[in-house]
Formats: sequence, structure tokens, C-alpha cells
Amino acid sequence: MREKIEQLLAEVEQLAAKKEQEIEEIRVRLLGKKGTITQLFDEFRDVLPEQKRELGQVLNTLKVAATKKIDELRTILDESMDADEPQYDLTKPGDRLDLGGRHPISVTKAEILSIFNKYGYDLAEGPEIEDDWHVFGALNFPPEHPARDMQDTFFITEGENPVLLRTHTSSAQVRAMETMKLPIRIVCPGRVFRNEAISARAHCIFHQVEGLYIDKNVSFADLKQAVLLFAREMFGEQAQIRLRPSYFPFTEPSAEVDVSCNICGGKGCNICKGTGWLEIMGCGMVDPNVLEANGIDSKVYTGFAFGMGVERIAMLKWQVKDLRHYFENDIRFLREFDTVV
Ligand code: PHE
Repeated sequence: MREKIEQLLAEVEQLAAKKEQEIEEIRVRLLGKKGTITQLFDEFRDVLPEQKRELGQVLNTLKVAATKKIDELRTILDESMDADEPQYDLTKPGDRLDLGGRHPISVTKAEILSIFNKYGYDLAEGPEIEDDWHVFGALNFPPEHPARDMQDTFFITEGENPVLLRTHTSSAQVRAMETMKLPIRIVCPGRVFRNEAISARAHCIFHQVEGLYIDKNVSFADLKQAVLLFAREMFGEQAQIRLRPSYFPFTEPSAEVDVSCNICGGKGCNICKGTGWLEIMGCGMVDPNVLEANGIDSKVYTGFAFGMGVERIAMLKWQVKDLRHYFENDIRFLREFDTVV
């Protein structure tokens, strides 16, 4: 028996195989139910007790060596297969394509722009990094206006006409007045920056869409009509608006626009804090000082302007209570808008 074991051990060392089938045959031949090694274990039962200890050890060594060799042959075969030709399982279902969706702010911005586009407004854009003249000076901001303070605006340089991050997209309207021929009818979308503490209702970065219309005989009634049309397209046919007197350096008169609450229909709920109205934008007639500062004859031309925050409109449309969700880009929040694409 010992001889047989020694012989098998030598044989195991020499084993080689090129196919999975060959390896399986070796396994059956040696370790299968009727395999040579299995049979040796059967015979081992009849071995004399004094020989058991020694023979048992070699027999075990043989079994371990055979198992190890078979594993080795499998690994070698797997590796060579991986290298030569990749093994494709053509019956496997394919991976799902994760397409993603558009960001709710992009969706809202696109909707606002498409409404104004329909009414003949062109798109005008400007840089996010601006100078004092385009953000404040040309827009009739007095030199001591608080917006010109470090507390409210991110400055990049100091001096006469400092470089800064625009605080509103009205700067793009100034650039349009400089370059475009009259009449002008434009909407300016874009990112704006204000030095504010981040909270559920405020962020230091947000998005605006501002509009400007300059022509002969543009009146406050035209402004009101434009805002009403927008509100109805955005919030539904039943939407009503109301204007409250307000103040902006670049418009006179100025107003704040409220839209009737789209949740309770004006009866009063917790979204509109019981008032039935939601504030959506600022607007007004372009101040003659602004027209003149931009080389437009204020005796011949008049105009109106309006500006709204995209986050605010999106919040009202989808009842998102915390503005920060828009910037955190938590995939669970974004997925809620997948259908909006
Ligand atoms: N520029 C103003 C703002 O950022 C919005 C506005 C635009 C108000 C045009 C009136 C007219 O708050």
C-alpha cells in the first residue's frame, strides 16, 4: 500500500490538463466515489493497527496533494482562458443605462425662458465676473448704496471700478443696452452671487431670470400684462397677480409682484402663510437715469424690467421648503424630478 501511495504521489506531481473536462476526469479518477485515492481510504480500514499511524499520514498527504494540484490546474486554465479569449455570457441581462435627469433648476429656468421666448424676448447673457459699473454704476446705484458693501457683494479687486461677482443679472441688461439696437426685448438668465449666510431661504449662489423691454411708448400697463401672462403660463390659467409698491435704484416706479397661491387658490394655507399670495418677482419702469447712463434718450424711449429668482419659482412650483436641496445634489432629491425631463 505504501508503494502505491508513493507512486500516486509522484503521478500527482506530473499531472497536467488543457481542458476543464480533463481536470474533471482527473478528479473523478483520483478522488471520485470509486477513485483510486478514495479506494485507498477504503483499504486503509483493514490496515494493521500498528501501521495505521504512519500510513494514515502519507495517505492524507496524498489526498491533500491531489486536491491542491486539481485546484492549481483549474486556476492555470482560468487564467489562460481570461488571457486568450474573454468569456462572455451572452444570456446575461445587460446593465441598466443610468441616464440621469435634468436638474430642477435647469428645468424651471428652461420653462421661464420658453414662456418669454414665445412672447418675443431674445436671450441675452453676460459674464458672472463683472465690474462695479455694469452691476451698480450704470443702474443708478448711489455710491453709498449698501449693496456696494463687502457685506453684500463678493469683491475680487478694490479701487475705482472694482471687479466683483455679479449680484444680479441686470448687468447683462446693461451690456445689452450698450450693444443692441433699439427696441430691445430680452431675458437674461444666469447665476448670481450674494454674500449671505446660507439658510433654508437664502444662499450665496442662486439663479435669476431678468427681463428688459425698451421701446417707444412702453407703459406700466404693458409691464403688468407681461407679468400676468407669465404668471398664468407658469402657475396655471387661474393665477392672479397683485403689485405692491417697492423700491429699486434702477426702476421708477417699482413694484413687487405676488401671484395667488397655487396651493390653496388664494384661500390661505401654510405655504402662503395664510395670505393667499406668494411673492415671485420685482419689477418696474426703467429709471430715466439708467436709460441716459446707457446712451438711450429717455425722452423718446421708455422701458420696463423685471427680475425673479429661479430657485424661488421652483420652490413654489414643487413645494420644496429648503433652498439648500438644490445645491446639495443629493441623488434621492434629484430623482424626484426624473419625470420632469
Ligand atoms: N435686479 C433685481 C434683483 O436682483 C430684480 C429686479 C429686476 C427688480 C428688474 C426690478 C426690475 O433683486
